[in-house]
Amino acid sequence: MSLILEGFMGCGKSAVGRELALRLGTGFIDTDTEIERKQGQSIRHIFDTAGEEAFRQMETAELYGLMLDDTDAVISLGGGTPMRAANLPVIKRLGRTIYLKAPADVLNERLKSGTDGRPMLSGYDLEQRVTELLRSREGRYLDIADAVVEIRDEDVGSVCEKVMKAYEGLK
Ligand code: S3P
Repeated sequence: MSLILEGFMGCGKSAVGRELALRLGTGFIDTDTEIERKQGQSIRHIFDTAGEEAFRQMETAELYGLMLDDTDAVISLGGGTPMRAANLPVIKRLGRTIYLKAPADVLNERLKSGTDGRPMLSGYDLEQRVTELLRSREGRYLDIADAVVEIRDEDVGSVCEKVMKAYEGLK
């Protein structure tokens, strides 16, 4: 049974996931990092050359691979991973999902320092794009979450504590 973190870009899935894995003494898997490692290319490059759909297929393949591996870990998903219907049963099979729920203003603030590595945001008006994408995704994030952790300005350690508490309640 893995602990899965989902949420919008910039909510802290990777930083929180890495720290959580340390505290829980488990492995840590960041699906974006795994895709980049296996492809030998950055996500930006994959989007630019192969396109978003190809990237989404890689995400699904990565999830299926994790299901076959069957090791317990902390897993940080990409922000768009829960949007693809084919991924949902796999996410459910992998473990318990915690949604790191940050409001749009907090996400904007965190993301404004640069969107170069985030092709879903770069080239858009950031605030408008974040608001729209979040609105279109939030329902799904909530639907598949086993627990929701609301975040604003907490540091990584405090978010970890909240997540661990929420996770305890799910066991
Ligand atoms: C995406 C989020 C990114 C990455 C890709 C697409 C999205 O991950 O998977 O750029 O559609 O929200 P992070 O949420 O880790 O930034």
